[in-house]
Amino acid sequence: MKKILLILTGALLFFSCTKKSEQELFISDLMNKMTLQEKIGQLVLFSSDWDVTGPTIKGNYEKDIREGKCGAIFNAFTADYTRKLQQVAVEKTRLGIPLIFGYDVIHGHRTIFPISLGESASWDLKAMEESARVAAIEASAEGIQWTFAPMVDIARDPRWGRVSEGAGEDTYLGCQIAKARVKGFQGDDLSKNNTILACAKHFAAYGAAQAGRDYNTVDISERVLRETYLPPFKACVDEGAATFMTSFNELDGVPSSGNKYLLKDILRDEWKFDGFVVTDYTSINEMVKHGISKDDYDAGKLAINSGVDMDMQGTIYYNYLEKMVKNNDVSEATIDNACRNILNLKYKLGLFEDPYRYCDAEREKKVVMCDEHIAKAREVAGKSIVLLKNAKSTLPVVDKTKRIAVIGALATSKEDMIGSWSAAGDGKKSVTLLEGLKKQYLQHRITYAKGCEVSGNDKSGFAKAIRTARNSDVIILTLGESKWMSGEAASRSNINLPGVQSDLLVELKKLHKPIVLVLMNGRPLAIEKEVSMSDAVLETWYLGTTAGDAIADVIFGKVNPSAKLPITFPRNLGQVPIFYNCKNTGRPFDKNNKYTSKYLDVDNTPLFPFGYGLSYSSFEYFNLKLSEYKMNEGGTIKASVSIKNTSKYDGTEIVQLYIQDLVGSVTRPLKELKAFKKVFIPKGETKHITFDISTDDLKFYRRDMTFGTEKGEFKVFIGTNSSNTLEAKFTLQ
Ligand code: GLC
Repeated sequence: MKKILLILTGALLFFSCTKKSEQELFISDLMNKMTLQEKIGQLVLFSSDWDVTGPTIKGNYEKDIREGKCGAIFNAFTADYTRKLQQVAVEKTRLGIPLIFGYDVIHGHRTIFPISLGESASWDLKAMEESARVAAIEASAEGIQWTFAPMVDIARDPRWGRVSEGAGEDTYLGCQIAKARVKGFQGDDLSKNNTILACAKHFAAYGAAQAGRDYNTVDISERVLRETYLPPFKACVDEGAATFMTSFNELDGVPSSGNKYLLKDILRDEWKFDGFVVTDYTSINEMVKHGISKDDYDAGKLAINSGVDMDMQGTIYYNYLEKMVKNNDVSEATIDNACRNILNLKYKLGLFEDPYRYCDAEREKKVVMCDEHIAKAREVAGKSIVLLKNAKSTLPVVDKTKRIAVIGALATSKEDMIGSWSAAGDGKKSVTLLEGLKKQYLQHRITYAKGCEVSGNDKSGFAKAIRTARNSDVIILTLGESKWMSGEAASRSNINLPGVQSDLLVELKKLHKPIVLVLMNGRPLAIEKEVSMSDAVLETWYLGTTAGDAIADVIFGKVNPSAKLPITFPRNLGQVPIFYNCKNTGRPFDKNNKYTSKYLDVDNTPLFPFGYGLSYSSFEYFNLKLSEYKMNEGGTIKASVSIKNTSKYDGTEIVQLYIQDLVGSVTRPLKELKAFKKVFIPKGETKHITFDISTDDLKFYRRDMTFGTEKGEFKVFIGTNSSNTLEAKFTLQ
């Protein structure tokens, strides 16, 4: 048997090496035929005019394709249209090098899933992988082989509109979700026609923009960069992410698109990344505005020599690279390197074998928005809804005799349900909350009034809303933001509910009827007053195509909410930045001591902490035990806990494990998430959960910036959220 295994392994190794050398031979042979202009053409990415995702610069991309001056197109889709453009590249150019088509398939392509921050609240890695898988199947059926996702920017400032696109504030959770999404997009074989290249963005630390103002300066320590912002990108490399996208921001005074330390020293030399790097939209050009380059030529020279392979929409590589080579400002070897990185991935996608394998109109018709995908989107949406409050068991609404008044503009807004960055999603095909409720309840027992718009000061609709609500037994009130109030270039200087929505709640409260507040928003909001006036609160983000069905499933109890916040909700903006894994400081808050870290006018705790989320079930944690209380370097200890479902509802609990390093050569966070498990517990039953803690979980960047452990005492916390845990202690000796 052993002999057979040996032969098999050898053969496998031989064939994989052969395959690699086949690829190398093919690419080298092709590059030997290419002119410098044709190589430069592969480094150029232009937007079609099918969608606009930034300041438009170019127009005549079809001519550029025909002349071999553009090797990649984004914002173009459907099998027919991409086939048309691909035919120009393959049949009209000298060497017939196929195009690669990219698009922002962030949370679904046609079937739209919850926005990424919402999906992240599910803490369900399998669900998020499946969501990305569905997106890849639909996008690839429409001629796309490359998505500009996952966005893995850690974000702790809710003023920043792009917090909606990522996985929230925590590095560990962000790493796990990054891997799941890369896996979903890329599958296990890029040559399959239903897998697409992932793109880890925005490299790096874009979420640390000062004051939460998009594109603003990032100025953080090397330690914070390494400990908080880089790990999700490293996780993408470990998962085999094929491409990276540079961020708009500067880091330590150098914009990412000209930052050799990021793009070569870390990404290539330390992490051994072997894919290609694309810039964000015209971000090479923007280095002139940053003031690090005197003109476009200078910016292009900095970018290509810092490790940028492809210029998105900037026309700088298009206009100047050939001249730079002539002026010896960039070597032809550098151009060859960038070109090879890109051709390698076109080869891996199978585009040279069959450039039209992704332009299959029949497959497109079959898979796009098919029942299976819609069902998956509804399942993932239900897992993304966070129950923030449920006083007097207001939810679920099970008594079908109750009259329900639905109030609020967002309850009937199809377009807002798909959120920002919704790719080729069609808002008109989404299910609104009112529609979803009516599909599951007696229509004549549901009434609706808008009350007011999301923004603006018009209260003229209040009277009708109050009349409607007066004749009801329960009020379902949707408040929040319009989808364009988060996403790119959508920072807000305050995070209150916009317009007069809060005033509408005040008026409805005077009716003394149960109020279910359904939030639809792309960021944490300062809603302490609104939560206090509501009996139940659901955070539903923007849940995508099936939004109304998924929310109705939860309201009527078909789905028991299980999601947990991936980002802290502050009591007000003044507390920001506020996040769970903060430092203790030398004067931690003490209510009996004036001279401690606090605000005079607001509690020191957040409105809702990281990891918070309720369920219709109730879970009791007890009996936290460690297998050992002393640990040696390289060792493992087991932490176990019992959890009883003390309710009458079967439910799922996300059990979270945090660790604190009590003393270090640098100060250490009060706690850090190191593991979590999503556990189904039938009503009345008890489950015993065990986690393995290894010394890898204790490593950090020590005083000398080496990454490792330090002996000493540690605390283990296990619980239902970052503020509510059992704890135990152990020593690393
Ligand atoms: C945008 C975004 C980036 C997106 C790119 C292409 O400016 O910053 O996330 O992938 O342009 O649309």
